[in-house]
Amino acid sequence: MNEVLQNIKTRHSTRAYTDRQVSLEDLKRILEAAASAPNGMHLETWHFTAIRNKDVLAELNEKVKGAFAKSEEPRYRERGNSKTYCCYYHAPTLVVVSNEPTQWWATMDCACALENIFLAAHSLGISSCWINQVGQLCDDPDMRAFLTRIGVPENHKVYGCAALGYAPADAVVKEKKLKEGTITIVE
Ligand SMILES: Cc1cc2nc3c(=O)[nH]c(=O)nc-3n(C[C@H](O)[C@H](O)[C@H](O)COP(=O)(O)O)c2cc1C
Repeated sequence: MNEVLQNIKTRHSTRAYTDRQVSLEDLKRILEAAASAPNGMHLETWHFTAIRNKDVLAELNEKVKGAFAKSEEPRYRERGNSKTYCCYYHAPTLVVVSNEPTQWWATMDCACALENIFLAAHSLGISSCWINQVGQLCDDPDMRAFLTRIGVPENHKVYGCAALGYAPADAVVKEKKLKEGTITIVE
């Protein structure tokens, strides 16, 4: 198997991180890979806001919890009131991927960029995970004000985030088994 296929097959989501920060050099490589993804009509309307500051990340988690605490759904309210809940698993870096919601392919553009982020990170020995909560809650007024303050364009919605960092040395990686019946080849 070639290196690219090997990288794709061995990538996996990581939900526990050490304090070790991703270097700025590696982060820039990862963000360049993100911005090299396919995107509808090559409009490149997306934006990547990388947070590397612990206090800003903690503030983001408070906004997530604040919005969840207002939810009608008990499981979200539980997260909102939890002292230990951290939507980004204490990763040292979080990349917020946003786009103008005016084009129907905005979601797909961001998903392509996120997959490039995960694969580029994995190729550099950096662990990652898609984080959904900021996108889910980006219309909450407190969250919106926070996102604007950190540089997410005001006319953008968040479609996903990437947690980036290093997994603990003793992290167990589950072996992947692909679900049967998901591929059809017509000849
Ligand atoms: C659209 C999308 C949203 C996701 N949201 C989250 C999330 O909020 N938190 C999380 O821990 N994982 C999230 N994931 C990661 C999936 O749970 C993970 O990719 C899946 O379980 C397969 O595992 P793997 O990535 O290790 O192959 C998300 C993945 C996708 C594609």
